Amino acid sequence: MDKQEAKKRIEELTHELHRHNHSYYVLDNPQISDYDFDQLLKELEKLEQQYPEFASPDSPTQRVGGQVTKKFASVKHKYPMMSLGNTYSRDELEEFDARIRKLVNEPFSYVCELKYDGIAIGLTYKNGRLVQALTRGDGVTGDDVTHNVRTIRSIPLVLPSEDIPAEFEARGEIIMPHKSFIELNKIKEQNNEALFANPRNAASGSLKLQDSALVSKRNLDCFMYGLLGESLPFQSHYENLQQAKAWGFKVSSLTRLCENINQVMEYIEEIAQERLNLPYDIDGIVVKVNQYSVQEELGFTSKAPRWAISYKFKAEQGITILEDVTYQVGRTGAVTPVAKLSPVLVAGTTVKRASLYNADKMEELDLHYGDTVFVEKGGEIIPKIVMVDIAQRPSDAKKIEYATHCPRCQTPLERKEGEALYFCPNSDHCPPQIQGKIEHFISRRAMNIEGLGEGRIEVLINNKLIEKASDLYGLTYDQLLGLTKTIEEEETGKKKKISFQQKTVNNILTAIENSKSVPFERVLFALGIRHLGETGAKKIARELKSIDNIVNSTFEELTEIPEIGERIAGSIKDFFNNHENLEVLQSLKDAGLNFEIEVPDETMAGDRPLEGKTIVVSGVFEKYSRNELKELIEKKGGQNTSSLSSKTSYLLAGENMGPEKRKKAEKLNIPVISEADFESLIQQ
Ligand code: IVH
Repeated sequence: MDKQEAKKRIEELTHELHRHNHSYYVLDNPQISDYDFDQLLKELEKLEQQYPEFASPDSPTQRVGGQVTKKFASVKHKYPMMSLGNTYSRDELEEFDARIRKLVNEPFSYVCELKYDGIAIGLTYKNGRLVQALTRGDGVTGDDVTHNVRTIRSIPLVLPSEDIPAEFEARGEIIMPHKSFIELNKIKEQNNEALFANPRNAASGSLKLQDSALVSKRNLDCFMYGLLGESLPFQSHYENLQQAKAWGFKVSSLTRLCENINQVMEYIEEIAQERLNLPYDIDGIVVKVNQYSVQEELGFTSKAPRWAISYKFKAEQGITILEDVTYQVGRTGAVTPVAKLSPVLVAGTTVKRASLYNADKMEELDLHYGDTVFVEKGGEIIPKIVMVDIAQRPSDAKKIEYATHCPRCQTPLERKEGEALYFCPNSDHCPPQIQGKIEHFISRRAMNIEGLGEGRIEVLINNKLIEKASDLYGLTYDQLLGLTKTIEEEETGKKKKISFQQKTVNNILTAIENSKSVPFERVLFALGIRHLGETGAKKIARELKSIDNIVNSTFEELTEIPEIGERIAGSIKDFFNNHENLEVLQSLKDAGLNFEIEVPDETMAGDRPLEGKTIVVSGVFEKYSRNELKELIEKKGGQNTSSLSSKTSYLLAGENMGPEKRKKAEKLNIPVISEADFESLIQQ
């Protein structure tokens, strides 16, 4: 393929892929299989690598991110981002309508929209291309999150060329759908990281990640609800929204034009039902005057437009009886109180339990046995108790006192200064803590011992076969064969039988054996040291190389490692100061796990000619792909970066490298080397 053909194919693929993205993420109507889509994307990626001069920031290949924003620039909004007046009552909505009628003489209509519960975003398009994305901030200035927003697939990066205003801003809401939210929290839980309380917080947290490649994986979505600009196609909100939809923006099909306030009320009625089926959170609806001329006439108060209002749904509530308070003990020993309720229907599901958060919250509610309580299902997944109806309290009701002892192992609970939760300090012998630790140990990202999920660890603990991770390595075929347990699923009451049959036992024993070759960094993560996540474990393993070095390192030495703060360092020191942990460690060593970073193979030892060198790769090469070069550079001790700076050691130039790059390298006095030069460098 020659250069012209490549250019044409890149354009074709770009167009096709944008179109399929739109069908999939905006219209929810895929036209090709995921596999075919990936094939086209790979073809484009390859061509863009070969002909970087034709790669554009709007390319569908950019959806996977990669740009890192250290600090989000604060940028002034061209049009301030106002807030909305809101109400919970239909009477007030009638008043809103009456007020407008009094002020305005011409006929007008309303547009009703969903009030998405996410993060407001302003997207600027110039000549049909997305150039900037700003968060609301304080309404006057917002944060520039453009790189992150480019990864959201329902946001068009380029618009069709016909009749697009030279410049305009699209306003909308970035949300995290329920499905993505649940998946994200599941992963966070596996990694022992703090969970997001609701999809809105998750959307907001995701949008503020520094690495756009991570944002790309968060499956965010975006609904548009307004256009701003000097030369918009229509003079009314609804028509412009429909136009925006035709340009490729995601505009909800539940947006409706209403002729009068009665139709608005009907809309509210319908959405109040429909919202339970939506795959994302809304917290109300927004009513806007449709005609811009009327909007202008009404104008703004200091904070909000007079031509719009939001009607918020009250969180769904149920009234029921508080039967008891139980306590859950997590794998870290944190104790959380849970209310046991007489079953009640709230927002379409039967609620039997509610979160009570912590001792302070319980004290604040002043709960008594048999209290009549209001339960609410808000943005949070687990329902909560919001109020007690004290008038209904039985005269002899006893106050509920917070547990003093661990419900599982009877150890007195402790509460650290300034912390909200109580802890069970018996971390080595308290069953849920043992179970939690072992479950973490065997998890996919740690030792990856398959076959022990779904309650099997619990069976082994109950049969006193294991108490610590190292016991796994002493398990025998005869011990496991024939173990059984029937468990009842709490929510459904369904009974499930867990059994250890021949095949299962063999699989488990093989998986345990195979785990002995898991690399050191994952073994370190598997130990379950508090606050030490996957990334931290990797950094420490690479820096200190062996468990003995880690055990013997001082607090200060640990904090000198990039990204290891005092909290993690302190927790590592505590962990290895505990003699029981040291015993487990010794048993794991005896079992033959990896406690040192693997020594590179013989031929590679000491072969790091690029140590300390930073290399930028540009263009296309004969022998190696760019990825192979990148790997080679790192393998030989060097670092591959994407842009030239005074710190760059070499510019490795292939075919088709842009002249600008060469000029810049010359200006900075950076040696430009060929593929052959590079080969002799690494063979030194
Ligand atoms: S219009 C000047 N429409 O609600 C009018 N806002 O208090 C400004 N929101 O965080 C907003 N759905 O991002 C509008 N359909 C919708 C909306 C909506 C959600 C959010 C908005 C802002 C807050 C306004």
